[in-house]
Amino acid sequence: MSLLTVENLTVGYGDTVILSEVNFTIRLGERFVVLGTSGCGKSTLLKAIVGLNPPSSGKIFFAGDEVVHPLPEDTAFYRRIGILYQNSALLNSMTLEENVMLPIKMHFPRFSDADARDVAGEKLSMVNLYEHRTKIPQELSGGMRKRGALARALVLDPEIIFFDEPQAGLDPVTTRELDLLFIRLNEQMGITFFTVTHELLSIRRSAQKVLMLADGGVAFLGTLDEAMRTDDFRVRRFFDVGTERAG
Ligand SMILES: Nc1ncnc2c1ncn2[C@@H]1O[C@H](COP(=O)(O)OP(=O)(O)OP(=O)(O)O)[C@@H](O)[C@H]1O
Ligand SMILES: [Mg+2]
Repeated sequence: MSLLTVENLTVGYGDTVILSEVNFTIRLGERFVVLGTSGCGKSTLLKAIVGLNPPSSGKIFFAGDEVVHPLPEDTAFYRRIGILYQNSALLNSMTLEENVMLPIKMHFPRFSDADARDVAGEKLSMVNLYEHRTKIPQELSGGMRKRGALARALVLDPEIIFFDEPQAGLDPVTTRELDLLFIRLNEQMGITFFTVTHELLSIRRSAQKVLMLADGGVAFLGTLDEAMRTDDFRVRRFFDVGTERAG
């Protein structure tokens, strides 16, 4: 069953077109990875789908319904998706726990504080941060902040999480832990992942479907196995440079 379908999407900034005629479908429960070199439009695509920078043409369908941006912030679409932007920061004016409670306050204002705190605590436990819940984000490491932002994205039990460069700035051990956490959330809770990344190891570890952007459009769409085998030079260059050895 398809969860998200993008048809003939064209998106840019002002008069500048960044991506045109993008087409793909993400199946329910799939780990979908968007890759490509810096500046190719990965974040632009993510922001177009979630409505931060609406597309200039094309259609988006979520769970069978067309999504027409701009949508009001309290709309059902935003309750059903979790988003972590590339520079998404937790707010330093509040504790980790209060950050995670924010989406509940926003979408379910009648929820009691105690209940919201319980739900936030449950999500913080899932990402191993429960004992740090009363700290402010400044007091946490980069990897902990990423996990905290993940807990916030998870708090409304989304059907899909949009994640922009989750591994950026993390060491290989922390990156691996985060990748394994995504796989666990995907396998145990059925959450669909739309992950933007250029971390080759993470792609190898966790991607099921791969969309590669280049030259203003889709350069490749297929399974990870197909991506590893294709002769397309843009895909080859991406994967082969990544496996080069130093020295
Ligand atoms: N707010 C903006 N206004 C104008 N141009 C923008 C804006 N954001 C991005 N761009 C341009 O759109 C293009 C794609 O940017 P985008 O951020 O989508 O790249 P990316 O693939 O996510 O790169 P990276 O891997 O470095 O994050 C770039 O040429 C960039 O300069
Ligand atoms: Mg980006």
